[in-house]
Amino acid sequence: MTHRKTDLPIDPIFLKRWSPRAFDSSPMPEPDLLTLIEAARWAPSAFNVQPWRFLYALRGDAQWQNFLELLDSFNIGWAQNASALVFLLSDRLMFADEPGKAKPSRCHSFDAGAAWAQLALQATRMGYQAHGMAGIDYDLSRIRLQVPERYRIEIAIAVGRRADAAALPAELQEREFPSPRRPIDELAFAGGFPRQTGNSH
Ligand SMILES: Cc1cc2nc3c(=O)[nH]c(=O)nc-3n(C[C@H](O)[C@H](O)[C@H](O)COP(=O)(O)O)c2cc1C
Repeated sequence: MTHRKTDLPIDPIFLKRWSPRAFDSSPMPEPDLLTLIEAARWAPSAFNVQPWRFLYALRGDAQWQNFLELLDSFNIGWAQNASALVFLLSDRLMFADEPGKAKPSRCHSFDAGAAWAQLALQATRMGYQAHGMAGIDYDLSRIRLQVPERYRIEIAIAVGRRADAAALPAELQEREFPSPRRPIDELAFAGGFPRQTGNSH
């Protein structure tokens, strides 16, 4: 993990989680995948609405190819060697004050993001890695996976066990390492937002 150094000490799980693309094509037992979703469902959400929904296919099952074809060609190139594919949805609506009525939720995507993070950390803890993907055909996914309009398709997630990077095409091998992060002082400010200077954002 030469590229990862924290500014302050944190639990090692946060550094061990990363997004590899070299996976070993091994089958994943369904209870393992459900354990990742178990971790995800304990995420916090506004009003405890729990807007996340998970659609999944396991390598070798009847839905695998259908799920794989919903990714863009770049992602299919490497995710075809994953062990599970998960589509994470969020419910745009939440209960309203009036019984039986629903109203738009402001935090459904934010909450789904928390669930994704928990899923990914649990995957790392179990010897898998989870790789999030926005590179998917959202319109086709809605049709093929019969997702009602009320639900937003957030991302797809490839889960698998790591393989040797040598199995990847050369251009992906170069990117197959845990990435660094901006320093804390670029993104955390005591007090209000700092005055803008030059090209900073
Ligand atoms: C919402 C989201 C969408 C992403 N989409 C893709 C994608 O379509 N293809 C891909 O190869 N990586 C994708 N990634 C992986 C990111 O590039 C990666 O998480 C980021 O570079 C940080 O690296 P790390 O996860 O290894 O720490 C995505 C990650 C997230 C969280």
